[in-house]
Amino acid sequence: MTAPGSHPVPLREQPTRVGRGAPRILIVDDEQSMREWMRILFQRDGFDVLIAEDGVVARDLIGHEYIDVVLTDIRMPRMDGLELLKAIRVIAPDIVVIMMTAHFTRDSVEWKRARDNGAAALLEKPFRDINLVTLQVRQLIDARRVRHERDVLRQAIAKDGFAGIIGRSRAMLDVFRLVETVCRTNSTVLLTGESGTGKELVARALHLLSLRRDHPFVAVNCGALPEALLESELFGHMRGAFTGADSNKKGLIEVADHGTIFLDEIGEMSAAMQVKLLRVLQDRRYRRVGGTDEVAADIRVIAATNRDLSARVAEGRFREDLFYRLNVIPIRLPALRERADDVPLIAEHFLTKFTREMGKPINGFTPEVLERLKTYQWPGNVRELENAIERAVALEATDRIQNETLGDHLSGGPREFTDGRAGAAFPAVGFNLEQHLQEVERTHVERALRQAGGVQVRAAELLGLSFRQFRYLVKKYNLKG
Ligand SMILES: Nc1ncnc2c1ncn2[C@@H]1O[C@H](COP(=O)(O)OP(=O)(O)OP(=O)(O)O)[C@@H](O)[C@H]1O
Ligand SMILES: [Mg+2]
Repeated sequence: MTAPGSHPVPLREQPTRVGRGAPRILIVDDEQSMREWMRILFQRDGFDVLIAEDGVVARDLIGHEYIDVVLTDIRMPRMDGLELLKAIRVIAPDIVVIMMTAHFTRDSVEWKRARDNGAAALLEKPFRDINLVTLQVRQLIDARRVRHERDVLRQAIAKDGFAGIIGRSRAMLDVFRLVETVCRTNSTVLLTGESGTGKELVARALHLLSLRRDHPFVAVNCGALPEALLESELFGHMRGAFTGADSNKKGLIEVADHGTIFLDEIGEMSAAMQVKLLRVLQDRRYRRVGGTDEVAADIRVIAATNRDLSARVAEGRFREDLFYRLNVIPIRLPALRERADDVPLIAEHFLTKFTREMGKPINGFTPEVLERLKTYQWPGNVRELENAIERAVALEATDRIQNETLGDHLSGGPREFTDGRAGAAFPAVGFNLEQHLQEVERTHVERALRQAGGVQVRAAELLGLSFRQFRYLVKKYNLKG
């Protein structure tokens, strides 16, 4: 159900189980009564407990079991606590290791050595307050989780722009900062921005950087489906709910359980569906079509629109209460022309991508081309840039993208005057009005088609054209029709 032409953010490596499920603790002590007592204690506190009677057994366990934290005695036969600590640093450096002992204190040389080797804490036996012990262990695990998530995020940023989203302009850095701040919350996000600005890409990044990343990301295009279909797609239906419903079907909300649901083109949602969605957002519950039971929805909702939703609210076409429920965290993606600084970077990114895909030895753009890319208005935003580079790479015969290869597609002309109403001066080299108008016309037809989910009658309406006029343009520009 994802939009054609969108590229999911590359999945990072399978994460460790950090932060999910019961924390797993390994207790290492040579005294059996101590081991058993601690096992009961930590189990009662919700831990998953493993035990070992000395360092050697513990080290072997660590080699093949997932473990969050090791709580180890120091003096033990065969391999002592300090040796074990050193081994853990090599085998699984992100395990939290806590030392416990009855023999020395925080001021001792032994503890100093353990700390230098990365021990997280020292617990002195006998324990005065056992609740404090489990609490302290939990805090150390939490701290590790926070560290781990920060590292994952940093890696994602360092690797390829920000989780695959390219941009260094101020406007995009603001977007990244916002994404970074909210990605681990469950708050509903409303993404706005013109077509092709990367709303779906950002939605995916929000999911991949969230704690829900191991669960599904489900994208639903609310504009593409008629109301009844959208309802059963989202909520699922029971057998016999309507003609043709010959079996129970899971809804996408259920498919996205524990994950993220991306409601694209939310502005197109019908009034009746808006009410139903509002209920899900308010109560996190819904009913399948033809069903009587209420189902709980554990989903994070990200919605997107290229419309001005508040204007639609003012016109009475979008529910105000739903708008506020969705607009908890608004993220506006700037149009590409508002961040011209990013154009060379993104162009370069797509050039690398497509030359690699097509196996062509092209290694740059001529200065003329770069200039044109930078001054063009990009009404179709990054998607248009992506398409332009793909086309150019396919057609280019030399080792650099030449002006002629770029062709007439970018005919919008320099930015100052593509919007004739702005009243800016024409460039000295002149300006091809006919070409410009055609480009504008074509872009509007494409956009209207997209917005209308391919339904031409609706697209024609959006443009205030008769169906015949609209058909003519679809043919003229050779668009799908
Ligand atoms: N900053 C960016 N860096 C790299 N690629 C991008 C960026 N922004 C968008 N893209 C790419 O541009 C294309 C369009 O992006 P996307 O589908 O996310 O746009 P959109 O805002 O959802 O558009 P629409 O409103 O038309 O659905 C995709 O192929 C996407 O990967
Ligand atoms: Mg989209």
